[in-house]
Amino acid sequence: MERSDVLVVGAGIAGLMAALKLAPMRVTVLCKARLGTGAATDWAQGGIAAAMGSDDSPLLHAQDTHRAGGGLTDDAIVEILTRDAPARIEELLELGAHFDRDDAGELILGREAAHARRRIVKAGGDATGHEILKTLARAVRTHPHISIVEEVSAEDLWVENGRVLGVVVRLPSGKTREFRADATILATGGIGRVYRFTTNPPQATGDGIAMAARAGAVLADMEFVQFHPTALAVGRDPMPLVTEALRGEGATLVNDLGERFMCDVHPDAELAPRDVVARAIFAQMRAGRTVGLDARKAIGEAIATHFPTVFASCMEAGIDPRVQTMPVAPAAHYHMGGIAVDEWGRSSLLRLWVCGETSASGAHGANRLASNSLLEALVYATRVAADVHGALPPARDPARRIVAPALSAPPDQIQALHDLRHLMYANVGLERDAEGLQSAIARIEQLDAVHRNEYGDLRNLLVVARLVAEAALERRESRGSHYRTDHPIADDAYAKRSFTRLRVVA
Ligand code: SIN
Repeated sequence: MERSDVLVVGAGIAGLMAALKLAPMRVTVLCKARLGTGAATDWAQGGIAAAMGSDDSPLLHAQDTHRAGGGLTDDAIVEILTRDAPARIEELLELGAHFDRDDAGELILGREAAHARRRIVKAGGDATGHEILKTLARAVRTHPHISIVEEVSAEDLWVENGRVLGVVVRLPSGKTREFRADATILATGGIGRVYRFTTNPPQATGDGIAMAARAGAVLADMEFVQFHPTALAVGRDPMPLVTEALRGEGATLVNDLGERFMCDVHPDAELAPRDVVARAIFAQMRAGRTVGLDARKAIGEAIATHFPTVFASCMEAGIDPRVQTMPVAPAAHYHMGGIAVDEWGRSSLLRLWVCGETSASGAHGANRLASNSLLEALVYATRVAADVHGALPPARDPARRIVAPALSAPPDQIQALHDLRHLMYANVGLERDAEGLQSAIARIEQLDAVHRNEYGDLRNLLVVARLVAEAALERRESRGSHYRTDHPIADDAYAKRSFTRLRVVA
């Protein structure tokens, strides 16, 4: 058994920033991959939204965040998010992050869909997440109070007398080990892997949500899954992202007949909210068309230097975006739902805090504004660390373990995983209806009955899949990223966030 003051599960932007801010407490960070890899942060292209321009303000940023959120954002949380954004950027600069600057040395602020101002801070054109993860990993690796445990999967929360006292971890050898701490912070990222088409890394298996759900935590907004409109459709899994910033710089969407269809869909055309663009592309695909992103005229040769990540992904797939359109399709990108937290990142379970995509704070409502995810992770990591500093309880209670995983060796789960991911994209994806959701839930329950006691990602993905599908069935309206073909209009009766717990199935 290992002991520390604070255990951080997850090593993306949220987990690593929380760890740095918790020092000089003794912190252990559990990473599912090697430190500095495997986190969605590494692949984030867009950047960090912050009102830093002279024509901008936190209020304007907040207004855009609320508008994107479809009426479900929390006023107080959005105010904190937008107010604290510039300070969080300054801290990253102090840690040594290199953000893009103009010839006068000023930060370059990019434009993205549904932002009224240029306010996206970037690095390396479209390699912002990589720069941030590199910076944080470097700081964590050399920190005297932080221990790193790599390539381990957290399997279950360790709960005694209703308090979270750590986690049970699966080591690469297949054995389990207990990591105990006075405070546990979950920052395990998103759930993208539950979908057949996703921009998330394979490690995004909803581990934090599944562990907390099994331990009885309250979850929120589970039905809201954001699909990015433009993932590169070249047969790769995960799909490489084609950043929205290309559309911000004028790239257009065309179908294989050469028609620019977004002008007929929304007054903001390609810069319409993400869910609108994603569904418009999906509608083209359902009608038998393919869709390409055309950056030739708007960006041209500059794509190679201004968007090197996108350029490299295209060239690897044999597409030259300077002279060809990029084939794109919508892919699961971000989960607005997660473990319900308050404004300090406290969950409903004692001694359990959550930050980043794993949490549902109300910052994003029914749909997240572009480039608010890295921001929320930074803001919440900071608040969680501050709260943990002030809150560590001294007392320990006698041991009574109430979450005891019954583990067996993993059988071949590949087919079940394949089934689940297809099912989720088809029935619980961009468009949903009662019939499809009900049959998805029935199938998930069948799979769960077979695989519930096996260790590995499938066990967590089945929990997450059921929670998303059940919440989607419950919300009989369309709002933000949640679109019901059988209830296509927003309904005031549902103009509130959803909260749930995992239903125990016999
Ligand atoms: C993008 O670059 O389009 C993604 C940014 C984000 O998800 O906020």
